[in-house]
Amino acid sequence: MEQTAIKQLLEQMSVQEKVAQLSQLTPQFLGREQGVITGPLADFPDGETYLNGLGSVLGTTDREEVIAIQKEHLAHDRLKIPLIFMQDVIHGYRTIFPIPLGLGSTFDPELVEILAHAAGAEAAQAGINVTFSPMADLVRDARWGRVMESTGEDSYLNSVLAAAMVRGYQGAPADLATDFSRIAACVKHFVGYGAAEAGRDYDTVDLSRLALAQDYLPAFAAAIDAGAKLVMPAFTLFEGVPAAANHFLIQQVLREQLHFDGTVISDWGALRELVSHGVAADLTKASEKAFNAGVDMDMMSGAYLTGLTTLIKNGQIAESLVDQAVLRILTLKNDLGLFEHPYRQVATALVAPESAPTQATRALAYQAAVASTVLLKNEQILPLSEKCRLAVTGPFADTGALLGSWHCQGRYEDTVTVLTGLQQQFEQVTVLPAPVSADPADYNEVDAILVTLGERENATGEASSQADLSLPPDQIALVKALKQTGKPIIAVIFSGRPLVLTAILPEVTALFYAWYPGTEGGTALAALLRGQALPQGRLAMTLPRATGQTPLYYNKLRVGRPANQANTIKYSSRFMDVANGGLFDFGFGLGYSPVSYTAPHFTQAQATMTMPAQITTTVTNTGDYPTIETVQCYLSLTNTEVVRPQRQLCHWQKVTLAPGASTTVKFDLTAADLAYVHSDLQRRTDEGPFQVYVGPNSQTELSAQGTFNASTSPK
Ligand code: GLC
Repeated sequence: MEQTAIKQLLEQMSVQEKVAQLSQLTPQFLGREQGVITGPLADFPDGETYLNGLGSVLGTTDREEVIAIQKEHLAHDRLKIPLIFMQDVIHGYRTIFPIPLGLGSTFDPELVEILAHAAGAEAAQAGINVTFSPMADLVRDARWGRVMESTGEDSYLNSVLAAAMVRGYQGAPADLATDFSRIAACVKHFVGYGAAEAGRDYDTVDLSRLALAQDYLPAFAAAIDAGAKLVMPAFTLFEGVPAAANHFLIQQVLREQLHFDGTVISDWGALRELVSHGVAADLTKASEKAFNAGVDMDMMSGAYLTGLTTLIKNGQIAESLVDQAVLRILTLKNDLGLFEHPYRQVATALVAPESAPTQATRALAYQAAVASTVLLKNEQILPLSEKCRLAVTGPFADTGALLGSWHCQGRYEDTVTVLTGLQQQFEQVTVLPAPVSADPADYNEVDAILVTLGERENATGEASSQADLSLPPDQIALVKALKQTGKPIIAVIFSGRPLVLTAILPEVTALFYAWYPGTEGGTALAALLRGQALPQGRLAMTLPRATGQTPLYYNKLRVGRPANQANTIKYSSRFMDVANGGLFDFGFGLGYSPVSYTAPHFTQAQATMTMPAQITTTVTNTGDYPTIETVQCYLSLTNTEVVRPQRQLCHWQKVTLAPGASTTVKFDLTAADLAYVHSDLQRRTDEGPFQVYVGPNSQTELSAQGTFNASTSPK
């Protein structure tokens, strides 16, 4: 539809129709069975009278339901404006890929883009037009349950992967309207939700504008630059004002600074929560505040339906502003081709969502599960031979519950369990009966024990904060009992967050962190154990030594009294009882072969505004197996105007190395890489030297010094 036709449509809309267009409800408000409920269901005013002209529905569960709802809606809607259907497609629709924190650990934007496309395609076939993904929140506190929805603790990694997801969902700009495997992306939660106090969900956030600009905004900026069509403000505060009513955040930062011109949709019930926050006396005031701040669409508060019409009629809200919000939503519908194809999914000849997972999506799920799994320890036991007589135990030994929170329409019965995966790779696999015996005599027929550990799927995700990140005592006891058998123990952790593994680390011979790997979790793990697949994941979030260290992240700001590694300096920034740093730090992960690095050196040590500095290192596979190495490049700035992190990731490259093979990896350090946010909130580069670290993870000590010598700031 031409833009002029959309404007004509807008002109025909009554005030009430405009208000309804700005509202989103679950299917139950359309007289259907309850849809997917992801928040509190407050009492709504009687739905019936509000449904005419409703803008959007969230939480449908299948294609037939979408078709039926759209059909009924169009039969009654005076102006025949189609509904737009939204859903949380976070790491797959029916075929489930690893959780986003696992996807972060792949360090692989190309793969992440392909996965987002595959997830979006399944969702699109089920009638979904918009996904509430990517979550671009920076996460540093593993107590927060929603760390599983993020790609981790580094804002650069998050930026690259958030942009990849947007491209994967949406395709090229013109694709949305014509390619029915595409859906629109809603980046969330704008902004700072990950900084909730003590990791308690929905809790207070107090961030400086400097931290906002430097750490929290970049991934949103990247998603928006990649074309994300929607943005969802967070539940949390910025400078004392909830994001859903925050004029500064939405108008000044989002619209002016980040040039976002798409739709702003509230989070579930967030307008209603303005009343709980005590910044609005009632729903009408809440709708006034949210609308004036810039929220176009009200998800599940019923606040606009309650208050907006009166506010417009009383002149408290300008109808011209309402028109702009409606126009943004109509434009989004038009971008998706919904006026011409309100049932996009029916018009496609693509595979029905019911037939998923298909062979092709399973292959992707396998690839992703392999790439996201991080090998943390391997005392010369892995890979195993197919003849290895394996015993398996622990709470995840034979369950399909390997999908993780927000697994959309994923089903346990479609999931390959650990046991099934092992049976495909090993000649002899036994499941240890519970309680396990610690008597070595019972293990004469066993060569190694695989113990599956971790946390339940619903122990992470929304509203799943944890005050204690240790493994449960019964799991620690299980490992200790198994240790007495004298057999090598291989542990695999399934978790949505970094857990404290300090108690079991010395007991195990090998250790994998599999996050929640998804539909092909069991296949991937077994292939990794056998060496049919290469371990290559790198931690996207630091694993703490103790819960009390949290928030914990590698790119801490420099302090005046740094601790030493041995943790022996009295007047230094440290804990008395635990060393600083993680048990395993950001970027850490092993392959099956050791890789050596030459000291990095600059082939071009001086960067200018237009010319990058160039640093190279040579990496060599010194072992007997092929390996995939993630060569990481970190920047460290001193003599700066504001305090900077000890180091920050600025580039990486994944390289595949045959046994004995070497390759030289080169990184360009541009003025944009060297720029940082100054106290005037402007991002620019300082003159002078800088340090670059290149190595296998964030703790590498291999470094070299370059200089920057132009004083004007980059665009
Ligand atoms: C939630 C979440 C948000 C999600 C929305 C819709 O409460 O905070 O991430 O997209 O509801 O399900």
